[in-house]
Amino acid sequence: MSDESRPSPSRAGTAAVIPAAGRGVRLGPGAPKALRALNGTPMLIHAVRAMAASRSVSLVVVVAPPDGAAEVKTLLDAHTLLPGGATAGSTDFLVVPGGDTRQESVRFGLDALPPGFDIVLVHDAARPLVPVDTVDAVIEAVRDGAPAVVPALPLADTVKQVEPASEPGGPEAVVATPDRSRLRAVQTPQGFDRAALVRAHETVTDDVTDDASMVEQLGLRVVTVPGHEEAFKVTRPLDLVLAEAVLARRRLNDGF
Ligand code: C5P
Repeated sequence: MSDESRPSPSRAGTAAVIPAAGRGVRLGPGAPKALRALNGTPMLIHAVRAMAASRSVSLVVVVAPPDGAAEVKTLLDAHTLLPGGATAGSTDFLVVPGGDTRQESVRFGLDALPPGFDIVLVHDAARPLVPVDTVDAVIEAVRDGAPAVVPALPLADTVKQVEPASEPGGPEAVVATPDRSRLRAVQTPQGFDRAALVRAHETVTDDVTDDASMVEQLGLRVVTVPGHEEAFKVTRPLDLVLAEAVLARRRLNDGF
């Protein structure tokens, strides 16, 4: 990044960290998940565009596979990352190498943030299609004073808590059925007051699957905003089919 493109305090505000260092084994063999193509464009590029689409986001930090930072940098350079009409330089992009766990990858992304960004979004590369309205709603709720904000949806399925079987696929004893009306499935981007998220990463050492739960462990207030069905996580092969269908519909609807 040249000195001229370094974020100035007046433009600073919200940064997005995209952990994209996972191997994505559940999608089967092939490229790391974030580099899989959706309609010819790598999933990671879709995810970066989804963050840059928000006028509030002025820096996107991509956390690449530990041995793949140069490749990811080349990939970002090769694609248009800003939405149509945006002026060059309105968003900066950084690539840093990731770690062994998602948590470590996010921490490396946080470590790379320059001063002046008080709000941080953490967004999975595996959720390439999150609409900009959802991104903006998360930022707005952090601006309104919540230390941590998660987009969330009610569940369609009833959830059972089980005693995990010793053999995969074996019968599992059901031990509880939580009240579905009080459960939510959470998505990303999750939004944070930067200081709270940094403290959470310094303090919490338990293995967690999302950043908001680390802030919860500090005893701070975590709130939800409505999530979106198109912010689903691309995890299994069928999700790739669904993601391509969403892109095709968007192209038909608004020439996206
Ligand atoms: O494995 P899972 O789908 O939960 O990964 C969520 C996100 O975390 C993905 O975008 C993945 O690339 C990222 N990740 C990472 N570093 C790791 C493991 C996962 O950045 N070591």
